[in-house]
Amino acid sequence: MAINTVMVIGAGQMGAGIAQVFAQSGFDVKLNDLQEEALEKGRAGIEKRLTRAVEKGRMTEDEKTGRLSRLATTTTLADAHDCDFVVEAVVENMDVKKKVFSELDTHAPAHAILASNTSSLPITEIAASTKRADQVIGMHFMNPVPVMKLVEIIRGLQTSDETYQAIEDMTKQLSKTPVEVRDFPGFVSNRVLMPMINEAIYTVYEGVAEPEAVDEVMKLGMNHPMGPLTLADFIGLDTCLYIMEVLHEGFGDSKYRPCPLLRQYVQAGWLGKKSGRGFYQYES
Ligand code: NAI
Repeated sequence: MAINTVMVIGAGQMGAGIAQVFAQSGFDVKLNDLQEEALEKGRAGIEKRLTRAVEKGRMTEDEKTGRLSRLATTTTLADAHDCDFVVEAVVENMDVKKKVFSELDTHAPAHAILASNTSSLPITEIAASTKRADQVIGMHFMNPVPVMKLVEIIRGLQTSDETYQAIEDMTKQLSKTPVEVRDFPGFVSNRVLMPMINEAIYTVYEGVAEPEAVDEVMKLGMNHPMGPLTLADFIGLDTCLYIMEVLHEGFGDSKYRPCPLLRQYVQAGWLGKKSGRGFYQYES
């Protein structure tokens, strides 16, 4: 099945990046959000990144104009009526996602594949809110989307082989690398990453080392480009806590219990870079 026209739902940090990557790979893109302001902000961000690429000589002005001309914006889900593929990147909340998928199911053509960019919610449950569960799949892009090569492709229990193959092929068309995983809490990326971040927080909580020392050990000792606490601040400590809770609840195993210090920082509103303070302080 040929995928030509796509809709991206949610024009936030991830959705705008995903829309950009599709537009620059030759797809016609409709970017959807509830709010006009979010669409304007998303589009302005894309334009800014493309302008920077022109300035750096990585793209011509004509290419930039061509890419922007393939990008439309809409606040109406019914505009999915002529889309071959839809990817959802709205807030990480199961009720909101289920509502989007069941509505989308009534608007998107029968052949369309529906994907979610969720970082932790079960694809199988999202798929069950539609009448085409075999055509629903997880497509977990990494942040920042235009830069990061990986797309974790999550097969729900009901995802068909045909759907998986179409999405694997499409991911390669985006010049990204697909990796196939099954639908279990945290998939692979967050199941491996988050316990490491949580353990780094435990070492601070237990007074083993200061945050700077923990990050230095992991950077210089393990060759990580960024220490786990710097990374946690970048991701957002509320997001880290949320994903640890998904792992803890999903597996029922105490090895995934969130560190009390992480919980306390979130209670204090110390959410990392976005709030100006996490394990480190940031200029506002
Ligand atoms: P964000 O908060 O930046 O953007 C969410 C956007 O969705 C907002 O513009 C909001 O207005 C819009 N929205 C909310 N409900 C909507 C609805 N019913 N219909 C249309 N638009 C709606 O969030 P972000 O960070 O872009 O995350 C989006 C998804 O991507 C989440 O599921 C998150 O778990 C996942 N994700 C996030 C990563 C990150 O590093 N931020 C990395 C990988 C996945």
